Amino acid sequence: MVSSVISGENMKKKYSLGEVEVIALDIDSLKIEKGDFISIMGPSGSGKSTLLNILGCEDELTDGELTIDSKSVKDLSKKEINKLRREDIGYVFQSFNLLAHLSAIENVILPLIPYKTSFNLRNRGEELLRSVGLENRTKHLPSQMSGGEQQRLAIARSLINSPKIIIADEPTGNLDTKFRDDIMNIFEKLNNDGYTIIMATHDMEAAKRAKKTIYLRDGKIIKVEVNNNAELYI
Ligand SMILES: Nc1ncnc2c1ncn2[C@@H]1O[C@H](COP(=O)(O)OP(=O)(O)OP(=O)(O)O)[C@@H](O)[C@H]1O
Ligand SMILES: [Mg+2]
Repeated sequence: MVSSVISGENMKKKYSLGEVEVIALDIDSLKIEKGDFISIMGPSGSGKSTLLNILGCEDELTDGELTIDSKSVKDLSKKEINKLRREDIGYVFQSFNLLAHLSAIENVILPLIPYKTSFNLRNRGEELLRSVGLENRTKHLPSQMSGGEQQRLAIARSLINSPKIIIADEPTGNLDTKFRDDIMNIFEKLNNDGYTIIMATHDMEAAKRAKKTIYLRDGKIIKVEVNNNAELYI
């Protein structure tokens, strides 16, 4: 049996701004299996980042249930949520979010520097840089790297703790087409290696490289496509 790494029921996220209430997310049911590669598409404001922030435990649901790796998120303490984020989830952002004054290798290993690890952190950092083709950029600062290289570096950083799930919010949004293909090749390889990947994008070409595409509109799932063009449901 395939096990769900993420499952959600009646997931709602509301924002109240004075009198106005915005329902940013309203999803009856969501199941993401181990080894899935999901792209999320939808117009600006449709709830893509809201959904990713909730799945990445960066933000909380207003209502409903979310289970990640068999743990019900609302039953977890702040400390347990931090641990879940640190150990299970790797995040990749549109704007890379690299630290400008740190070298490539330092950016990669930084998330784990405060913690004891059972492995040599620097060796692991070098291995990850190699896996994204940056073995000759170890000492470069982000400003000395191209956009595509910076995003590959950010992906290497997201892998430092061997997360179960990689969450990427428009990872190719700031990149030229050529670099977009590099990034999607890396995601495809990571997915083949067993990582579960959830990626929001505005780019249909990138979206089609995932196994399934979820379409959002006004916070709701309006369609899920398997990317051999077979439609599951509307
Ligand atoms: N902190 C907030 N306070 C109030 N409303 C918010 C907040 N964050 C998001 N929203 C609203 O929630 C809705 C969903 O926003 P979200 O950022 O998830 O959209 P998106 O699909 O990621 O859009 P984009 O493609 O522009 O990144 C929007 O209507 C937005 O205005
Ligand atoms: Mg967004």
